[in-house]
Amino acid sequence: MLEEKVFESPSRASFGAESPSAPEPLSALSTAEEARAGTGIGEFDRVLGGGIVPGSAVLIGGDPGIGKSTLLLQVTGALAIRGGKVLYVTGEESLHQIRIRAERLGVVTENLVVYAETCVERVIEAVKDVKPAVLVIDSVQTLYSTEVESSPGSLTQVREVAARLITYAKASGTPLFLVGHVTKEGFIAGPKVLEHMVDTVLYFEGERGHVFRILRAAKNRFGSVMEIGIFEMKEDGLREVANPSEVFLAERPEGASGSAVVASLEGTRTVLVEVQSLVCPTVFAVPRRTVVGVDYNRVMLIAAVLEKKADITLAGYDIFVKVAGGLRLDEPAVDLGVAASLSSNFLERPVDPGTVVFGEVGLAGEVRGVTRAEARVREADKLGFKRCILPGASLKGLEKKTRMELVGVSTVREAIDRFF
Ligand code: TYD
Ligand code: MG
Repeated sequence: MLEEKVFESPSRASFGAESPSAPEPLSALSTAEEARAGTGIGEFDRVLGGGIVPGSAVLIGGDPGIGKSTLLLQVTGALAIRGGKVLYVTGEESLHQIRIRAERLGVVTENLVVYAETCVERVIEAVKDVKPAVLVIDSVQTLYSTEVESSPGSLTQVREVAARLITYAKASGTPLFLVGHVTKEGFIAGPKVLEHMVDTVLYFEGERGHVFRILRAAKNRFGSVMEIGIFEMKEDGLREVANPSEVFLAERPEGASGSAVVASLEGTRTVLVEVQSLVCPTVFAVPRRTVVGVDYNRVMLIAAVLEKKADITLAGYDIFVKVAGGLRLDEPAVDLGVAASLSSNFLERPVDPGTVVFGEVGLAGEVRGVTRAEARVREADKLGFKRCILPGASLKGLEKKTRMELVGVSTVREAIDRFF
């Protein structure tokens, strides 16, 4: 805290200094959309809101080793191959390592300029010299400014370094990508302190040992924060997953109790995902409840509703719920999938493998309507599902639009009768 007070000011004066502007009437301003640069990697462009915006500052956070450097080298490399000059500044890896990686990723081109440097003043000199179309800093935690005395990676350094780079990006119109590691100890000096300074915050997530990686926007001044990009980590870099449902359902144990497929909305896309549950008699005084990939409290709520309204007496049981494939679902429509999965395992009756479900579950045991029912039904239809259990309220007008059998339900009890 003390450190913060002493060093807080140096960046202030530099903010905005290079781009003087005067107050203007709103009506005098242009409404034309800013031209965006597409990287050619669709999943990435979509999460950004449709490509890279000039002068924007984008922070990419994530656990060490998750693939941030790989993603940025691949994406900006694709841009470089299409003719845009990229300056990739690394404070973490040697140029040799980057060269080897770039070869693996197939992005070796003279437009991709790499620079191993940790002093932000020297980096800015180099940027002025190279005049890249895109600037990448990997990572913001390894850079330091000579104006600040604390060590690289400290709160004040990270903030100062970012402020300088962002000021330059805004003044010159150069898009800036900052990599920021999130570690348990380093969280404070990590991406969190920068979130309000940048235009866009993306998180690159995934389970270690799992091949899927998800790019999610936590803040975006130039697009929706609902969009996600899905990638698969391969030997030669990240591969876009264009039809996630097929991939997420590929290893589904058909006919096993506890497995249910839910149609979930991820931004503008519908993704069909498997929710799995295991319900077993507890040996503890307080049963264990473990939830991965869905909100814990949501699952507890659904368990309580099942107990009270549908005679699924889970009190003496340990409950484990997991979304397969490492995806994180956080929308109400997933409720019915959790209910189907839990009741299926409890009753030891498999959900019919050709059935997909979605709907919000209320505390009175009611199944409530959800948004974009048609898109969900369409995706399930496309993947060959035969039957869909959905809120009665969302049913209106849908029947004519699908070959699937649509089963509208209004209560959880009613839904349970139709799951199996
Ligand atoms: P990296 O991009 O270095 O992670 P971060 O910058 O977030 O710390 O990713 C490193 C991991 O990705 C490493 O475990 C190896 C793996 N990887 C592949 O599987 N295929 C590849 O083509 C590359 C470049 C990396
Ligand atoms: Mg890295």
